[in-house]
Amino acid sequence: MSDETNTPVLEVSDLHVSVGGKEILKGLNLTVGAGETHAIMGRNGSGKSTLSAAIMGNPRYEITSGTIVYGGQDIAELAVHERARAGVFLSFQYPVALPGVSVVNFLRQAVRAVRGDDVPIKAFRPLVKENLKILDIPQTFMTRYVNDGFSGGEKKRLEMLQMLMLQPTLAILDETDSGLDIDALKVVSTAINGLRSEKRAQLVITHYQRILQYVTPDHVHVLLDGQIVKSGGPDLAHELEKHGYEWLEKDAA
Ligand SMILES: Nc1ncnc2c1ncn2[C@@H]1O[C@H](COP(=O)(O)OP(=O)(O)O)[C@@H](O)[C@H]1O
Ligand SMILES: [Mg+2]
Repeated sequence: MSDETNTPVLEVSDLHVSVGGKEILKGLNLTVGAGETHAIMGRNGSGKSTLSAAIMGNPRYEITSGTIVYGGQDIAELAVHERARAGVFLSFQYPVALPGVSVVNFLRQAVRAVRGDDVPIKAFRPLVKENLKILDIPQTFMTRYVNDGFSGGEKKRLEMLQMLMLQPTLAILDETDSGLDIDALKVVSTAINGLRSEKRAQLVITHYQRILQYVTPDHVHVLLDGQIVKSGGPDLAHELEKHGYEWLEKDAA
């Protein structure tokens, strides 16, 4: 019998993914255990977003072979919303504005969509309040329209607020740190660190190691041309910063 506490949150095995007929991921292996935070690093075009899209179930990304097992279940056949309901969250790089939809209503809808039922307003309010406090967001934020005239930092705050409200089992942050000022970067880090628990896992995907000064990953992996070519501890991120990605390209060649 399988011991549930030892089941990894995510197990990607020999994953091959094509987009528009072109193979992008070429046999990727990754195991993320419960309670762990992993960083995936790689330069532009290495396949980072392809990996997150494949885990989330974006239908444009075709899995040609290999498996994605989440919580012990092969999720190949699950649609995006089913994966979200199962506890997978992917941060969006390009959030859309929803004029006329207030932040508070948006969050209620999001929580309802993921949980499959309504959260009573009595339970919802204190949860929002607690998360606003964690992220240092003023209450007035709640009545504004979603991303309408939001600064980059405010968009990021909303997204992190949404993540904290949903409490995903697997949170994937795909270059969430790119282009953020230090305050927004701290909000993102606070949210990621606040999610950490023995049952959850996070995948922090990034080009630069900047965010890893605030979020200490348990494992760091380097993605190069569709494969993980090196894995290590937090020090690997610092080494990469020092030597650049060329350091590993020479190894792989
Ligand atoms: N929708 C797409 N159609 C065609 N090619 C794509 C598409 N998405 C990604 N690619 C290609 O796949 C490769 C990896 O892209 P991506 O996963 O976005 O890398 P990263 O996120 O590491 O920058 C790139 O060469 C990119 O041009
Ligand atoms: Mg990308």
